[in-house]
Amino acid sequence: MPRAVKFWKYGGPEVLQLVEVERPHAAPGTVVVEVVTAALNPGEIGIRVGHFDAMWPATFPEGQGNDFAGYVAEVGEGVEGFAIGDQVLGFAPRAAQANFVVVGTDALAPKPSALSWEAAATIAGVGATAWAAIEAVRPGPRETVVVSAAAGGVGVIAAQLARLRGAHVIGTASEGNFALLRSLGVTPVRYGRGLADRISAVAPSGVDAYIDTFGAGNVDIAIGLGVRPDRINTLADGAAILEYGVHSDAQEEAASPALWATLAGMAAEGQFHIPIAQVYPLEEVRQAYRDVATRHTSGKRVLSIIAPGERRE
Ligand SMILES: NC(=O)c1ccc[n+]([C@@H]2O[C@H](COP(=O)([O-])OP(=O)(O)OC[C@H]3O[C@@H](n4cnc5c(N)ncnc54)[C@H](OP(=O)(O)O)[C@@H]3O)[C@@H](O)[C@H]2O)c1
Repeated sequence: MPRAVKFWKYGGPEVLQLVEVERPHAAPGTVVVEVVTAALNPGEIGIRVGHFDAMWPATFPEGQGNDFAGYVAEVGEGVEGFAIGDQVLGFAPRAAQANFVVVGTDALAPKPSALSWEAAATIAGVGATAWAAIEAVRPGPRETVVVSAAAGGVGVIAAQLARLRGAHVIGTASEGNFALLRSLGVTPVRYGRGLADRISAVAPSGVDAYIDTFGAGNVDIAIGLGVRPDRINTLADGAAILEYGVHSDAQEEAASPALWATLAGMAAEGQFHIPIAQVYPLEEVRQAYRDVATRHTSGKRVLSIIAPGERRE
């Protein structure tokens, strides 16, 4: 029997269960995907613990996970452009951590075979989010851009996309991630008290744009450094959005399979790198989320649902 991660009530990682489910079939216009890898994102923790109950309530038993990569297993009537066995990546809200997902073609893009399964699972989530954040602040050649939490899932891609536009990128991180950021052409600075001074020390001509992927006062720092609100994007500071009118563009602004295909192609060509911090078998989903909840990482954590030796490359 296929399995899926489900939970029946809000709570800590212990509420997550790996349970047997019916194998889904493809209704007209949809595709069934056999999932190979599925990403783990901190926002999913907010849903599971019930923080977003008022806005986005769970429907129990609730599934878990959004962005994934896998093989097309079944194609519904009327679907064009996908065939059984194709390698694909996509977005299945609250459902991706399972052996099979059903998605429409508006949530599915081809996966380049040169892109690893682990990296492919992150394209429609943090990849799209990083793209949206970059589009919002439009870094240009020779501009200076700060990315907060630049070794995190979104930050590590946003920093490299800004570099690809010719910008000088300063990334905030803890010292354990400095070597990673330097290897990607990013100037690392330590986050925390005194951050504005440390940024100014490496950006003597000022900061043109600021991508905040962590909150915790980063938008205030950006405003204090003289960055215009329309050159600031935050993913994690609702109060600053209201106070300063900064951008809050995220995955929803880049929920386009054509864009995901572009990003996947760029990653497959090595234009940017998606560091995979850790890979967990599906059975270890609880521990995986405990690790995600630490909010310290070097890139992405990903679930492997079909083990490397069992994949049909
Ligand atoms: N709305 C959407 O569509 C959407 C989509 C994706 C993400 N998001 C949101 O975007 C945010 C980033 O997501 P993510 O997946 O990139 O998160 P993540 O991978 O968990 O980011 C972790 C990073 O945060 C850094 N960090 C820890 N404490 C910090 C502090 N006090 N100040 C600055 N940085 C600190 C860590 O740096 P070190 O490891 O170097 O200590 C780590 O690299 C989250 O709030 C997430 O919910 C929203």
